Amino acid sequence: MGRLQGKIALITGTADGQGRAAALAFAREGAKVVGCDLKTDLAAETVEMVRRAGGEMVSMQPLHLNDEEQVKAWIDFAVKSYGDFDILYNNASGVRGGSIESLTREDWDFNIANEVTILFLAIKHALPVFKRKGRGVILNTGSVAGMVGAAMPGNIPGNFVHNISKAAVIRMGVNLAVELSPYNIRVNTVSPGLIDTPATRPLLQQPNGLELFLKSALIRRAGQSEDIAQAAVFLCSDEASYITGANLPVDGGWTASGGLGQPDPDTTKIFAEAMAKLCNIPGGPNG
Ligand SMILES: NC(=O)c1ccc[n+]([C@@H]2O[C@H](COP(=O)([O-])OP(=O)(O)OC[C@H]3O[C@@H](n4cnc5c(N)ncnc54)[C@H](O)[C@@H]3O)[C@@H](O)[C@H]2O)c1
Repeated sequence: MGRLQGKIALITGTADGQGRAAALAFAREGAKVVGCDLKTDLAAETVEMVRRAGGEMVSMQPLHLNDEEQVKAWIDFAVKSYGDFDILYNNASGVRGGSIESLTREDWDFNIANEVTILFLAIKHALPVFKRKGRGVILNTGSVAGMVGAAMPGNIPGNFVHNISKAAVIRMGVNLAVELSPYNIRVNTVSPGLIDTPATRPLLQQPNGLELFLKSALIRRAGQSEDIAQAAVFLCSDEASYITGANLPVDGGWTASGGLGQPDPDTTKIFAEAMAKLCNIPGGPNG
């Protein structure tokens, strides 16, 4: 028996990265998966991969989650394919980077639309199905970007509206957990740290790029899409039936360390003597 045996799960953005890994993991755990993406060939390839591995999956592509009519069509397609579904995992997002000075109004609107509004639309139109079924699970994708500093090595700016959008997604999870609780619907957020996907590869491929990212977290490796998929399986399964309104960072300790990573040996040396004195002064903590 898989951990999602008998469940029907909708996952957005299944063409690549975390969405593809989630489709494979959910199907492996016994769920029937309904995917979607803007990218036609890669999304179809994910379906083939799931089926080759013995799983069940259908998907609609190209599908633009910012188009309300297309979202409605996807929900209808899901119900026609497998019946009333149990899980909606909002993984997809579209991002344009920039600082407040460099971003245009159009960039701002693009991010809000493709990081926040797409969740609003998918959840709004999935809701009648969950209500009809008498239960449901929603998992949204936040980010360390919505939680600490600039969420980049060295706190460099460049994710202004992305950070704001992800903070909104995390807040959305709390609001919805409260608002949808009477319908027996659980709502949680998974917040990835640095995950090696096509979206982050240009950053990781900069000279020392990976090393600089690793210095921001406690666990010194890049996260993999499967790390997020495993957390998603858990949060969407009945094993998490008492968890709602939570935001789970899967970030190698990025947020716990405030993006500062493991203790820095040079800084430790600088403060060692002063710390020793501080602890031994008369009337001090040890005096
Ligand atoms: N990779 C990371 O380091 C990281 C870190 C924190 C959070 N996240 C979040 O995790 C999620 C997955 O990230 P990823 O790195 O796998 O990204 P990705 O860009 O590789 O995959 C996202 C997928 O969503 C699709 N998509 C985007 N906008 C869409 C739309 N309007 N309609 C339909 N499909 C759309 C894209 O085509 C793409 O296939 C995102 O929400 C991202 O913000 C990623």
